[in-house]
Amino acid sequence: MTHSIQPIGDRAFHLMTDSSSVVLEVGDGGHLELLWFGDPLRLDCATQLDGIRRPRGPLPGCTVDAGTMTDPPTSLHRQPMAFATAGKGDYRRPGLVIDGQGVLDLTCRGHRIIGGGVPDEVLPSADPEPDSQTLEVILADDLVGVTVTVRWTTFPAAGVFTVRTTVSNTGPESWRLLDVASVLIDLPDRGFDVITLDGWWGSEAHITRTSLGHQRLVNSSATGSSSTEHNPGTLLMESGAGEDHGRGYACNLLYSGSHATSYEGGSAGLVRMVSGINPEGFGWCLDPGADFVTPEAVLSYTASGTNGIARAMHRFVNASVVPRHWRHRERPIVLNNWEGTYLDFDLESLTEIAQGAAWLGAETFVLDDGWFGHRRDDETSGIGDWWANTEKLPGGLEALIARVQDLGLEFGLWVEPESVSQDSDLYRAHPEWAIHQPGRAPSLGRHQLLLDLTRDEVRDHLVLTMGRLLDDHPISFIKWDMNRLISDAHEAGFHHRYVLGLYDVLARVFGPRPHVLLESCSSGGNRFDLGMLTFGPQIWASDCTDAFERIAIQRGVGMLYPASTISAHVSAAPNHLTGRAASLDFRFAVSAPYVLGIELDPRQLSQEDMEVLRDRVAWYKTQRAVTQFGEHRWPDGAGDQHEQVVAIAGDRALAWIYARFPRRGVTPRPLRVPGTTGPVVLQQRFGRSPSTVQLPDGALAQGLPMPLLADGQALIFEIELGMGRSAMAARDGAEECI
Ligand code: DGJ
Repeated sequence: MTHSIQPIGDRAFHLMTDSSSVVLEVGDGGHLELLWFGDPLRLDCATQLDGIRRPRGPLPGCTVDAGTMTDPPTSLHRQPMAFATAGKGDYRRPGLVIDGQGVLDLTCRGHRIIGGGVPDEVLPSADPEPDSQTLEVILADDLVGVTVTVRWTTFPAAGVFTVRTTVSNTGPESWRLLDVASVLIDLPDRGFDVITLDGWWGSEAHITRTSLGHQRLVNSSATGSSSTEHNPGTLLMESGAGEDHGRGYACNLLYSGSHATSYEGGSAGLVRMVSGINPEGFGWCLDPGADFVTPEAVLSYTASGTNGIARAMHRFVNASVVPRHWRHRERPIVLNNWEGTYLDFDLESLTEIAQGAAWLGAETFVLDDGWFGHRRDDETSGIGDWWANTEKLPGGLEALIARVQDLGLEFGLWVEPESVSQDSDLYRAHPEWAIHQPGRAPSLGRHQLLLDLTRDEVRDHLVLTMGRLLDDHPISFIKWDMNRLISDAHEAGFHHRYVLGLYDVLARVFGPRPHVLLESCSSGGNRFDLGMLTFGPQIWASDCTDAFERIAIQRGVGMLYPASTISAHVSAAPNHLTGRAASLDFRFAVSAPYVLGIELDPRQLSQEDMEVLRDRVAWYKTQRAVTQFGEHRWPDGAGDQHEQVVAIAGDRALAWIYARFPRRGVTPRPLRVPGTTGPVVLQQRFGRSPSTVQLPDGALAQGLPMPLLADGQALIFEIELGMGRSAMAARDGAEECI
């Protein structure tokens, strides 16, 4: 094992990845400071730290010193901190707030370097790499009786660090925690923009870029879920940075609840980043001896633009976040019946759809909402009663599954275990299990309530019910949905306790059944987060399947989440949500760089479209290693009117170019795959003029001219990188040159 954390002298630590360095130091006054977070350093001795340490004092104007009698004096407001509190001259957002304590002063009491990571028992934790190490620094304030343990873990191959904080009550009295950060760091201000992924139901993860300046910008969710409003993942990029150039950072959380990440520019030439559970609505009583553990935060640094961040985060998620069984395992192509039938189906219609799915080449048939209890053709009843509705499915699930399996397909099933309809047997038996505030009528969302997952008996019921469903039927795929936001949470900290309850249920249902592929979904992308990805390897990105809209949604989540996690289906035209029509080739091209699926009724397709789709599905199967696990990048400045996606795996690459509302006469940017050297064969697939050409060395790295495209047109290229010339000459049709 290579050491990825090296002590430098007796109070500094060098944390290393293949592409970045972090240097933490316990300052003269005992506070934890961040000396460096950036390009990889070679650090051999403590004297080298003088060059990267921020000079202290003299303190300008009205600045307050830390009360630590250092010489020169220290202002905590002007130092780059790696954990910070209020009351001793630091006026930026603190990392810890305890009710009634205006002053907290945390100084170092010790440290340890541990091999691997330090997983939590309930909260999701990233799996360490072979060379991962963890630095644990213990900070304490004896007057208040609080200890804070900050843990940094290295992920050298991915180029990522994770950080988590544990707060312990070491005093004789109970107290109330009001806010605790997973991570707090100060970075030298390089003139940053904050990139957030914002949206709403059906329009998730739109990229918003805001110049930070001298202000505090907060990216947060208060819905109880990580939310479509603001994904928990954010980037802090130099204002000139693009896809392939410029320095910057990313921060994300392995967490699915209400979160908050703030960036604060200030007079000291530092930007403070604080990330963790949203303090609004939070509160946690800690008795003497008790601990509170925060969600794990994920940090990455790049010197090569947003694609550099994407590369690190994608590697990290594929290697350390998704469940082991699914790491680098190809995902099946599903046909999901939701947009094909909604709730209106029966055994015969589903059988015909499954026949169509098999003919098209799908591998799993997923039965969506409406198969259970007394669920009618509307959405008002049945949620909570997870047994088959025999009016719709005589013979139960067994009869349908047998038919599906006879067609050579695997079977997948939709469930929404966290919810309950008031018109359900479960609610009639246990109305008290729904989240409610005594004395107030509960708020409904999509005609349903949420079960109170903080209650043991509710969680036990769900674990038993879901376990039975999975054990009694050959189900290889579960779409776990959650279609409303939390309301009526009348106790502080409820959102967090709900998420802990959810994680407990997911661990107990899927832990013993790792072969079941969990696709999580929450009205589309309401919980597109790293927490959910530790339980299931893919997420339904949006209820909007309009290809024009999906380009932006998938581009947004693709910044931080790899293609293998993004479920993208070809649906009917015109699109049910937007009414916009797109050609089948365009719809396919937009889904193809990710986890392809089909979401329509094959009986409604023309014979020609059936054949085209079958052909495209067959091609996708030959490219799955590249589409799902290739390194995805978005070439610099491809822009709004024409988007480009490139996926590279070894000596193969795929490229997609989309025209989305282009102005007349504007051609797409050149197709570029930076860094490619050696001979390249470029094959344009499908469309009007499929062709194969050999390229001069170096041309693809600089960019190839692209033809004019009409709105809704797409190009797909298959690229063989660095192929030997003799092999190239032997290729059919390789004589044509651009
Ligand atoms: C919301 C999901 O995002 C849809 O795909 C579908 O499963 C519906 N729920 C079913 O109610």
